[in-house]
Amino acid sequence: MEKLPRLDTDNELKKRILPHCRLKEGEIWQDPEGLHRVGVGDAGNPDFLDRLFKGRRIGTMLNDPPYNIAVGRRPTAALSRKSADEYVEFTRRWLDASLSFLDKDAHFYLWLGADQNDGFQPLPEIMILLREYGDLRSRSFISMRNQRGYGTQQNWMSLRQELLYYVKGKPEFKVVYTDIPKILKGYYKTVGGRRQENLERSRSDCIRPGNIWVDMQQVFYRMEENVPGAYAQKPLASAERILTASPPPGNSVVADLFSHSGTTLLAAEKAQLPCCTMDIDPVYAELSIRRIERFRSTAKTGWQWENPFPEIDMESTERL
Ligand SMILES: C[S@@+](CC[C@H](N)C(=O)[O-])C[C@H]1O[C@@H](n2cnc3c(N)ncnc32)[C@H](O)[C@@H]1O
Repeated sequence: MEKLPRLDTDNELKKRILPHCRLKEGEIWQDPEGLHRVGVGDAGNPDFLDRLFKGRRIGTMLNDPPYNIAVGRRPTAALSRKSADEYVEFTRRWLDASLSFLDKDAHFYLWLGADQNDGFQPLPEIMILLREYGDLRSRSFISMRNQRGYGTQQNWMSLRQELLYYVKGKPEFKVVYTDIPKILKGYYKTVGGRRQENLERSRSDCIRPGNIWVDMQQVFYRMEENVPGAYAQKPLASAERILTASPPPGNSVVADLFSHSGTTLLAAEKAQLPCCTMDIDPVYAELSIRRIERFRSTAKTGWQWENPFPEIDMESTERL
């Protein structure tokens, strides 16, 4: 099992980890290799964002804010449940603070939850809120397959995970493919007088991801990319797909205001794209920095079930 339990529900453990976090509220880590910046602050604070971006424009923004849904049936401080109206206000605050940092051509991605046991909130409220932001044009509404979402009697998950894609201006979009082979045959078209089977004309033997991503696995402790302690980690493959299809144009940067386990940061590092990211909680900012440091020294994408804070002796924690 994982060496570190979920940090959001264990305040005692968090108190012991905090002295090992290099950033305090308002501070920013500058990557010694000059590529990234990681801060601890509130996504709704424009002054902090100004310091984080330090004159850089955002070309690809990939945000995954708390969903307003208790994860694993445990309400948490970081993922505390608000009313739908309060959640809209929280979202409006960080949108107002951050969208002015977008470049003239930019990609904007937003992960959102939808609670199937509660009128699918907050997804519809936030889709309607986003119509107020005239610079953003809606482009795609992507769903990630949830293997426990339908078709089981017990142990099913009432949470949906949706990805909204908007653009500002006209950023370039690059076509990407999955690893799933094309198997559907039997479609024909006559081109230049010759009857061709569709596969003859395709650029790849694999299918495109479309808007239902079936080839992504929710992260769990057996996967190398797992970050113990992080309760809301997204698959690295999802961030990599987004950055491959929508790289930041020109000199602009990747941004993620809700870093958590540092998935966007690591995907940017793998693609050698500059990334500015942050979290309100110093523990997650530290985890994000440690994640790319580990990747740089070992090529590993996470800790699987090992402890990202080896300086904390878990045995003595268990005795407390
Ligand atoms: C759903 S998680 C992000 C998961 C991330 N995409 C990953 O793959 O690890 C949301 C994160 O937002 C952080 N957060 C909550 N409120 C915030 C705020 N006002 N400003 C910045 N970060 C915040 C939480 O501490 C949490 O780590």
